Amino acid sequence: MRAKNAAALAASCLAAVATCHDVNTSPAPQAATFSNPVLWQDYPDLDVFRVGDVFYYSSSTFAYSPGAPVLRSYDLVSWEPVTHSVPRLNFGAKYDLGPSSQAYVKGIWASSLRYRASTDTFHWLGCVESSRTYIWTAAGTAAGRNRGAVANANWNWTSHTPPLASCYYDAGLLVDDDAAETLYVAYGNTRIRVAQLSADGLAEVKSQEVYAAAFTVEGSRMYKINGTYYILVTRPAAAEYVLKSTTGPFGPYRLAPKPLVSSIAGPLSSAGYAHQGSIVDTVDGKWYYVAFLDAYPGGRIPVVAPLTWTPDGWPQLVTDSADRWGATYPLPVVNSSWAKAVPSPLGTDAFEGSALSHAWEWNHNPDDASGSGSGNKGGGLVLQTASVTTDLFAARNTVTQRILGPKAAGTFRLDARGMRAGDRAGAVLFRDRAAYIGVWVDDKNSSAARLVVVSNLTLAQGTWATASAGTVVATGPALAADVLGDVWLRVDADVTPAFGTSTERTATFAYSVDGGKSFARLGPAVAMSNSWQFFSGYRFGVFNHATRALGGEVTVKSFTMSQ
Ligand SMILES: *[C@@H]1O[C@H](CO)[C@@H](O)[C@H](O)[C@H]1NC(C)=O
Ligand SMILES: *[C@@H]1O[C@H](CO)[C@@H](O)[C@H](O)[C@H]1NC(C)=O
Ligand SMILES: *[C@@H]1O[C@H](CO)[C@@H](O)[C@H](O)[C@H]1NC(C)=O
Ligand SMILES: *[C@@H]1O[C@H](CO)[C@@H](O)[C@H](O)[C@H]1NC(C)=O
Ligand SMILES: *[C@@H]1O[C@H](CO)[C@@H](O)[C@H](O)[C@H]1NC(C)=O
Repeated sequence: MRAKNAAALAASCLAAVATCHDVNTSPAPQAATFSNPVLWQDYPDLDVFRVGDVFYYSSSTFAYSPGAPVLRSYDLVSWEPVTHSVPRLNFGAKYDLGPSSQAYVKGIWASSLRYRASTDTFHWLGCVESSRTYIWTAAGTAAGRNRGAVANANWNWTSHTPPLASCYYDAGLLVDDDAAETLYVAYGNTRIRVAQLSADGLAEVKSQEVYAAAFTVEGSRMYKINGTYYILVTRPAAAEYVLKSTTGPFGPYRLAPKPLVSSIAGPLSSAGYAHQGSIVDTVDGKWYYVAFLDAYPGGRIPVVAPLTWTPDGWPQLVTDSADRWGATYPLPVVNSSWAKAVPSPLGTDAFEGSALSHAWEWNHNPDDASGSGSGNKGGGLVLQTASVTTDLFAARNTVTQRILGPKAAGTFRLDARGMRAGDRAGAVLFRDRAAYIGVWVDDKNSSAARLVVVSNLTLAQGTWATASAGTVVATGPALAADVLGDVWLRVDADVTPAFGTSTERTATFAYSVDGGKSFARLGPAVAMSNSWQFFSGYRFGVFNHATRALGGEVTVKSFTMSQ
């Protein structure tokens, strides 16, 4: 949680009278404000909603697998990833990754997730490759009756095939509050449409254009509030517009006299404008807008601000004294007896569970046959080589985690004794322009391993085919057999936003062969790309691939995210 305490308390109590009355008598007063961004990680195209006392947040993942992560929060501020709506990308063979089958920048974007109490179901849908809409559902395990809590930690997502033949471009689901809990989807670019789904939510009943904008809008989110239908749309990448219908889901819709936000400054410099978000209320009826900032090279990160409503029913953002998106606001939920501690993205993962945590996503679908997809074997993540290639972008089983901004180190501890001649493993700063520190084993002599830094691995913008497999920019010491069992590789990355500027943020690489006591820097600082076209921001990742033959493996003993 990023929250400030004491000093800010008095001031914020003025704005949060309802929650502040007994602060003085509390033995441990809660922090009274939060800071934006609420989670400095790349979770774009957010769809935030509330079930009981629990907030859920669905996001885009493109070709990462599992896809469509779901985060959970008890206060709209501290979030933890708890599941993925799409456990495996079932969109075609290219999502399995191979030399001529890559799906970079395809896959999951601007999808939608909602909970439907009458069927006790979480319902996810998303249009893939502008052609079909995929649907996955999970049983809510009585979440609606249990203040939003989902009892089954595995969620048990089920795919509904075949996908819908229509593309719900930038979909926003609504569960109506009628007796049937009818499902509607607002979608489209500029010409906004609403589709009504069948009772089971798996087929289209009808679809109709409801609003034709005079300029480009997309990213629909649909709500019904006090009997009125709202559709929020984004004008990329600068503004959020509100449409309202008092006559039903199919309109006619009226455009708000003023956008909800338009080129709003704050709360971070060199980041884009907050836009493309969701509105959500708390149990006690306070409303919030959750949007994202383009914060490359790190990606797109969520910010939260309170809303008020005009007498004629239009939402208005609460801005700071300079009319910017505030850097801090009073906490949305204070002293909820229901709130539970949410783990920080910082810390060490020793891969002790039976499956990877939901902080991790593979680059495309992993190769389960190699054993890697199953996660781990009782402490440590075993990565068997699954591809024979000299191109990391074509190698299966790279597993990644979002970098925590504004600066973080990702440290992977490897047991590399199982590597074979020609194998390459390492810690990567992953994006369309990537670099890594790794262990290369000589392609003829499996006992000759050395450390290298490889830079400038590049995907071609647009086609996203590999343009460069990278060049070795530094060579470290040979790794004797006795140190290969405990090699620590670290990536230090500065993802402070530099979007729309020519400032190049950099990352550096380091290693330790003394059990993590001392780290030695290797190679030059490498520049990161601030461009948005790849959509996903930089990630830390760990990989192991062969260049000669399969059979080798490494064990990732731990990963630490530190700041
Ligand atoms: C929190 O709520 C409990 C139960 O309603 C109450 O007894 C306590 O005083 C509250 N504390 C604060 C700091 O609001
Ligand atoms: C998972 O969902 C499927 C389909 O709804 C169901 O048949 C199965 O029993 C569920 N499994 C578990 C463990 O809940
Ligand atoms: C909805 O109606 C309730 C009850 O009249 C009212 O308290 C609330 O402010 C309304 N909400 C909005 C967003 O108009
Ligand atoms: C293989 O590499 C090791 C370590 O560098 C070296 O000691 C050994 O002589 C090499 N073997 C051959 C056959 O080149
Ligand atoms: C990086 O790779 C691209 C594409 O192959 C190439 O155009 C560029 O010159 C390379 N830059 C460096 C610094 O090697």
